[in-house]
Amino acid sequence: MSILTKRSLHPRLLRSSLQGFCRLLSMEPAEEAKKSAAYAAVDNHVKTNQKLGIGSGSTIVYAVQRLAQRVQDEKLDVVCVPTSFQARQLIIDNSLVLSDLERHPQLDVAIDGADEVDKDSNLIKGGGGCLTQEKIVAAAADYFVVIADSRKDSQILGEKWKKGIPIEVIPMAYVSVMNKLKKIDRSPELRMAKSKAGPVVTDNGNFILDWKFTKVPESWAEMNQTIKMIPGVVETGLFINMANKIYFGMPDGSVSTR
Ligand code: 5RP
Repeated sequence: MSILTKRSLHPRLLRSSLQGFCRLLSMEPAEEAKKSAAYAAVDNHVKTNQKLGIGSGSTIVYAVQRLAQRVQDEKLDVVCVPTSFQARQLIIDNSLVLSDLERHPQLDVAIDGADEVDKDSNLIKGGGGCLTQEKIVAAAADYFVVIADSRKDSQILGEKWKKGIPIEVIPMAYVSVMNKLKKIDRSPELRMAKSKAGPVVTDNGNFILDWKFTKVPESWAEMNQTIKMIPGVVETGLFINMANKIYFGMPDGSVSTR
């Protein structure tokens, strides 16, 4: 509180310190970080007449809120393609124009969160179980923007995200996929639901395996291919060489990019 009593403080500095202080009081630092990253991404990459991919998770909520604000204030004409049931609901709840890849197979920009981002901008995604549609939508976009708080920033994959690589599998194949993965590294876990007995069932009617690898592979691209070749694997949460720009939000509301 000493900043409030210092007479020498410039009024503009005092105002911004107070604003930052109030923001921190009203919002958890991690939420502030997510919001800052999301707002910066929407402000820097969204223009009128664009087709947008909308990711899933908690960070994307801020991006959609900012997008809705800009659409209303600036009369932007944009259509939004969701990556999950949650994203679809977000688009509808924020009165944005909902579309799909059938009508808009080519997107200008996709914005999504991530569970971890390594120094080469490779990602682990799928903490929310939406990895397959997220990857399809990201791959359909000319430009893929990732938004995350700075806790997700790492040197190598697995350094920060300890829950393993999410892998979506066809239900009848889950044991055989687990056995094949166990031969490469240790056995994955079948992701279990929290408020329902039994496994998590994805938006595509599949299961998720979380693979906590012990050995970091020499090439994540090759590892991704190896996993994808296992019969029964639908998609992996490894997003290799896909992200064009990363926005990391900091707890003080500042943003760094990569
Ligand atoms: C969902 C995802 C999310 O983008 C990822 O889990 C990040 O979520 P959050 O923004 O809540 O940290 O991949 O499948």
